Amino acid sequence: MSATETTDPNRRDFLYIATGSVAAVGAAGLAWPFIDQMRPDASTLAMASIEIDVSAIEPGMSVTAKWRGKPVFIRNRTPEEIEAGKAVKLDELKDPIARNANIAADAPATDTDRSAGEGKENWLVMVGVCTHLGCVPIGTSGDFGGWFCPCHGSHYDTAGRIRKGPAPENLAVPVFTFMSDTKIKIG
Ligand code: FES
Repeated sequence: MSATETTDPNRRDFLYIATGSVAAVGAAGLAWPFIDQMRPDASTLAMASIEIDVSAIEPGMSVTAKWRGKPVFIRNRTPEEIEAGKAVKLDELKDPIARNANIAADAPATDTDRSAGEGKENWLVMVGVCTHLGCVPIGTSGDFGGWFCPCHGSHYDTAGRIRKGPAPENLAVPVFTFMSDTKIKIG
C-alpha cells in the first residue's frame, strides 16, 4: 500500500454496513459506499450484537458497521500502523487507559491492548464516535495517521488513542470476539 493510497480520502477504504440511514456518517463529506450485510433479524434484536465478515478487509482497509445505532470502525491495520502504535510511550498519551471493554477496566492503552490482542494486533475495532461531543471521526487522517474529528479538531493515532485536541478519551473498544478467522461478533 503506497502512502498516496493511504491518504486519499476518496479511496474505497470505508464501507458502511447498515440497514438504517447513513446520513449521520455522511456529514464528514466522504462518499461512503453502502453494502448491506446486516442479518435480517438484527433490528428485532435491537442490534444487541452483529456479526461482520472481515475476510474482504485487506490490510490498510476499514469498514464501518452500525451497532446499537452507532458506527463501529473495523480496521485491518498495516504493519506500519501497528509499528507506529507500538512506538508510542504510555506517558505520551493524553488518555493512558485502554478503554477496551474486553479487558480490565484499568488496563493501560498499549497498542496491543487497544487491538484485538496478541496475534490479531492488526485488527482494531472501535466505536466510531468522538469522545468529545460525539461526531464521527474520519479515518487515515489527522496528525497521527489514525482518525481525525473535524468538528473541533481531535486527532487520534493508529490505535485510536486521543493524541491532540479536545476529546478526553481514546475511542472506545466495544465487546467483540472472533467467531472464526474471518468473522467478528460485536456485542
Ligand atoms: S466532537 Fe470530535 S472534536 Fe469535538
